[in-house]
This record gives sequence, C-alpha cells and structure tokens, in this order.
Amino acid sequence: MALMALSIGTCFAMDNELIKAAHAAAANAHAPYSGFGVGAAVRLSDGRIVIGCNFENASYGLTMCAETVALGSVTVMSGLREVRTIAVIGGRIVNGAINGSDPVRPCGRCRQVIYEAAALSGYDVEVICVSADRSVVEHHRISHLLPHAFGPDAL
Ligand code: THU
Repeated sequence: MALMALSIGTCFAMDNELIKAAHAAAANAHAPYSGFGVGAAVRLSDGRIVIGCNFENASYGLTMCAETVALGSVTVMSGLREVRTIAVIGGRIVNGAINGSDPVRPCGRCRQVIYEAAALSGYDVEVICVSADRSVVEHHRISHLLPHAFGPDAL
C-alpha cells in the first residue's frame, strides 16, 4: 500500500498542506447570512488538491456547503473515485477571517456526499476536522462519521 511507504513526518506535512488549502478557501466563503465561513480541501490519489467554500443564498435553503462545492469540482475533474482525504475548517467570520476553537465536522448531507466517493472507490475516505485556530485537528474515517450508510448497493 503506497501510504505505508510514507513516513509519519510526510503524512503530517501533507495534512498540513491540505489544512492550509482549506483555510485559504474559507477566506472566499460567501456567508453573509450565517456569518460562518467554511473551507474544504480534497486530496486526490495523485496528490492534487481541490478546494471549496460555503456559498449561501438569499433563499437560505439553497446554501451549498464547502465540502459539497469541493466534491462537485472533483466530479467535473472525473476524480470522485480518487478522493482520499478531505480537510474541513471553519468558524465565525470576524474582519474577513474565520475564528473559533471548535472543529467543523461535516453536516449530515455532506457526509452522504463524501460517502458517495467512498462507495465508488471502496476507499474509506479520511475526514480531517479542524478548528479555525487550528488548536483541534481530528482525524476520522467516513465509515465512522456515517455508519450504516445508504449507498449505491442499496439501489
Ligand atoms: N457549512 C458547511 O459549509 N459545511 C458543513 O459541514 C457545515 C455547515 C456551512 C453552511 C452554512 O453556510 C454555514 O456553514 C452555517 O451553517
């Protein structure tokens, strides 16, 4: 397995790079209604990083979460099967920057969207949940965040 050949230091650097990309994406959040900015960064099997941020609408229910925006772009790149890791970070927007010490964990809808990628490839996608101040970094697997998921096998 390719991952086994990577040192712990390398994995840490890769996670940091992904978290930094998610944090940068959060700066572009369009969140004037909630005041809560979220950034997501997806790493594909070939190392490419695809980002997303939340995108709210005056018709509130049309809001798109950062994870779903990122995974939509991944889909356009034919990369859904290649999703390995997604980092999510967010918090209250103050002076254009996200703030807070609680990690953002994907909402239920986003878990289902992430599961679609996992079901396609058979890879248990890693989900890194991070607080805006980066004091908390949680490592999860989608099977843990969404047990007994509904997927393509059920159809
Ligand atoms: N949000 C995300 O972008 N991802 C999540 O997993 C949770 C919530 C966004 C949606 C909305 O724009 C704001 O955070 C507050 O709910």
